Parts: sequence; C-alpha cells; structure tokens
Amino acid sequence: MDKNIKRGIYPGSFDPVTYGHLDIINRASSIFDELIVAVLDNKLKTPLFSVEERVNILKELTKDYDNVTIASYDGLLVDACEKMGVHVVVRGLRAVTDFEYELQMAQTNRKLADSKVDTIFFTTDIRYAYLSSSTVREVAYFGGDITEFVPGIVAEMTYKKFN
Ligand code: PNS
Repeated sequence: MDKNIKRGIYPGSFDPVTYGHLDIINRASSIFDELIVAVLDNKLKTPLFSVEERVNILKELTKDYDNVTIASYDGLLVDACEKMGVHVVVRGLRAVTDFEYELQMAQTNRKLADSKVDTIFFTTDIRYAYLSSSTVREVAYFGGDITEFVPGIVAEMTYKKFN
C-alpha cells in the first residue's frame, strides 16, 4: 500500500442513507485522497434494504465523486480495514448522546487492531443533527414526509418497502 495516499473508510448501516450521511461523505472526500464508504452486511439484523440495494443506492448518489468507492463488509470493521488497507475510520457525531457509543467503538477498534486503526469524527452539520436512518424508516412507515431527510430516489424506494 502507498503510505502517501490518505485513505479513509466511512462505515455504517446506511439503512437508508440520509442527507446527514451524504454530507459526511462530501466533507470526508475533500480531506482524504480516497474514501471508501463501507456498508455493513449485518447477519444479526434484518435491514429494510438489502446490502446490494444499499451499495447500489450509494453508488448512484456518489457517482460524481472520483475518489469515493462503495464496498460492503461483514464481520469486524477492523478486519475490513486490514483487507482494504485502511487505517482511518470516519464517523459522524450528531450530539453528545452519540459520543459514548462512538468513543467505545473507536477504542474497541483501536484495541482490536493493535493501535493500527484510528477513528476521526466529523461533527454533523447542524441541518442534519436530528436525522437518523431509524427515524426515517419510522416516519415513512407511518406515511410521513421524508423528502427533507433523504434524496428523492431513496424516499421513493423507502415508501415502496412499506407498500
Ligand atoms: O450506521 P451504524 O449502524 O451506526 O454503524 C455501525 C457500524 C456498522 C460502523 C458498526 O456497528 C460496525 O462496524 N460493526 C461491525 C462489527 C464490529 O466491528 N464491531 C466492533 C466494533 S464495536
């Protein structure tokens, strides 16, 4: 791996991807030479969107960024980091309530990776501070308007899931 290339990985469930996630992708892609957005294929949970759907949606929404690639992983994030040759994890912090979980995850990953994986945090843009994939799913489920939370194609696909 070329050590001069700054490569970052932005992992998540992205079920579905929101404007908050897209804002982090936009900002992280301007800091890293290469940004890998990695979708967790979590065998312990039943997601609304399959991993293939989430990967395809992200590919479509990031097609104009030449330094962003979309991948998926299962198992430990640190194993995915090793396979992909990445040492920096990107996460968004919306509020203090995120902090405890994110700190624990960052420290666990650092320990698991023998200090070879660090996490950096982007503070979520204030416009998206309240946003989460789970509230998007819930609002859509009850027929509410999610068009301010997610791009049009995502809104359409999310409503379809509940029809
Ligand atoms: O979007 P999310 O659900 O908040 O993202 C959480 C995610 C997917 C980054 C995290 O749960 C993850 O990477 N899980 C994979 C399993 C793992 O590595 N666990 C150890 C770290 S606590």
